[in-house]
Amino acid sequence: MLTVLEGVVMELQDCALPLLKEIVATDKEEVAFKDLDAAILVGSMPRKEGMERKDLLKANVAIFKSQGLALEKYAKKTVKVLVVGNPANTNCLIASESAPSIPKENFSCLTRLDHNRARSQVAMRCGVPASNVRNVIIWGNHSSTQYPDVHHCLVNMSGSELACFEAVKDDTWLKGEFITTVQQRGAAVIKARKLSSAMSAAKAICDHMRDIWSGTSQDDFISMGVYSTGNPYGIPPNLIYSFPVQIKDKSWKFVDGLAINSFSRAKMDATAAELVEERDTALAFLKKD
Ligand code: LMR
Repeated sequence: MLTVLEGVVMELQDCALPLLKEIVATDKEEVAFKDLDAAILVGSMPRKEGMERKDLLKANVAIFKSQGLALEKYAKKTVKVLVVGNPANTNCLIASESAPSIPKENFSCLTRLDHNRARSQVAMRCGVPASNVRNVIIWGNHSSTQYPDVHHCLVNMSGSELACFEAVKDDTWLKGEFITTVQQRGAAVIKARKLSSAMSAAKAICDHMRDIWSGTSQDDFISMGVYSTGNPYGIPPNLIYSFPVQIKDKSWKFVDGLAINSFSRAKMDATAAELVEERDTALAFLKKD
C-alpha cells in the first residue's frame, strides 16, 4: 500500500491545508503511532460477499487489537482516538481494550455521518438548509439497527425554531421512512457509487474531530459512539454506543434528562442488543488470540 500512500500524500499537499506542517507516510507502527495527539483509524476489513458476520468480527479484532497495542506503546496517553472502520463501534471497543493505559473516554467511533444524514433528510423535507436543523440524535450502533431520533430536534423555519414533528407535519414519515432511509443510507451510497461513502465520511470525521478539539456550542448536542458505562439512559455498560453528547475542554459528557418515550426505548434497546452480541463475540476472539 506504500505506493497508494504516495497518492494520498500528493492529495494532502494539493489541499494546501493551513494547519498542515509535515506529512510522514509510513507502514511502521512505531513511526505512525509515535507521540500521537489524535488517531483516526480508518482501515478495517470490509464485509465481502458470503462472509459471515462472525468472520468479519474475527478479522477486525486482529486489526484493532494490533492498533490498540500500538497506541498503548507509542501514543501520548492523552491521545483522542476516532474509529471509522466498520464495524466501528465494536472495533473501537477492541482498540480500547488493547490500550488499557489510555482513558476509555478518549476513544470514540464515528456516528456523525449518520447524524449529518438525519439532519439533511429533515432539512430537505422542510425545504431549509441543513444548518437550520439541530439536535438530532443517533442512538446505538453504526449499522442498520441504529436509531435516528428526532424527538428533541429543532428546525428553524423562517426565523422561529419549531419542534421537528411540528415542522415536518408528517409523523408517519418521521417514524417510518425517515428512520429506514438514515439506517440504510450507507448501503444506498454503496449501491449507487459501487464504493463506500467517501466525501460525506471525510466531512463527518472533520466535524467530529473539530468538535472534540473546539467543543460544541452551549445549546447544541452531537452524536458520537462512546463508552456506555455510567450513561443516564439505562443502556448496558461496556459498549461503544452512540449517544447525544456535549463537548467542552476536550471532554465529552452525556446529554442528560431527555425524555424517552416507549417508541424510542424499544429502538434504543434493539440496537443495544445487537452491540452486546457483537461485543461478546469480539471479546471471545480477543481472549482466544
Ligand atoms: C457508511 O455508513 O456510509 C459506511 O459505513 C458504509 C460502509 O459499510 O462502508
